[in-house]
Amino acid sequence: MTKPLALVTGGASGMGLATVERLANDGFHVVLVDRDPDLSIKESTRLKQNGLDVQCEILDLTNEDLVRTLIKNLPPINALVNNAGIFDERKFLEVTSEDFRRVYEINLISVATMTQEVAKRMPDGGRIVNIASRAYLGAKNHPHYVASKAAVVGYTRASAMELAPRGILVNAIAPGLIDTPMLRALTPERMSQQLALQPTGKAGTPQDIAHTVSFLVDPQTSFITGQVFFLDGGKSLGGSGA
Ligand SMILES: NC(=O)c1ccc[n+]([C@@H]2O[C@H](COP(=O)([O-])OP(=O)(O)OC[C@H]3O[C@@H](n4cnc5c(N)ncnc54)[C@H](O)[C@@H]3O)[C@@H](O)[C@H]2O)c1
Repeated sequence: MTKPLALVTGGASGMGLATVERLANDGFHVVLVDRDPDLSIKESTRLKQNGLDVQCEILDLTNEDLVRTLIKNLPPINALVNNAGIFDERKFLEVTSEDFRRVYEINLISVATMTQEVAKRMPDGGRIVNIASRAYLGAKNHPHYVASKAAVVGYTRASAMELAPRGILVNAIAPGLIDTPMLRALTPERMSQQLALQPTGKAGTPQDIAHTVSFLVDPQTSFITGQVFFLDGGKSLGGSGA
């Protein structure tokens, strides 16, 4: 029997990489898409050596032509995970329109391009998971990122309504602090501040995210769409947990 096909963007690092590994273990043929050639080749080779069915595609997701060509050349995709994103810190009064554009290009617009291209040929009953962020509720020192992730939540809800008649279910995950290379953008002082705000006192792992993606793309998860799942150790409850 042919394996179902999953595509994970930003699959060479952090939670994307953990998701590639998890979905391949779940029985998918997984297409890892990332712009980092060294990391993509290193990690996909490692996973293949471990017997996993992983295909590596190196491209910048903000290049619409490359995304369209990639999807045209792949068989229809059963599960799409829009995970790639960028994060940096900018003071509220200093963030520029160029900062907004740069972050929106990948965090939002590439998600919409990829979703449209995949949805054109996605079989009925397909699954889409968008990685947003708990920060969309509001956070200091990265207004451009917060706004881009709030937009991902809006786009998730719009996609869920558009695609529900075909049985395609679209959900978002809103991670809190997760221990990945992305956190290198935080100074040690900011990292300590963030950890102090965690009710559970610790960051989550990439595998925490991969586990929930696995649940959401499982054909047995058949009646959830347009929802946002907070994987944040309780931070979205509000307050410091003290
Ligand atoms: N780590 C956290 O605490 C955290 C919290 C909330 C949300 N998120 C979100 O989770 C997602 C994954 O983040 P992570 O922490 O695993 O980060 P990461 O930096 O470890 O991995 C992100 C991957 O995306 C790839 N990427 C970035 N821009 C790309 C582009 N234009 N084209 C192709 N690939 C591109 C990078 O090369 C990298 O491999 C992101 O959307 C991020 O915003 C992360």
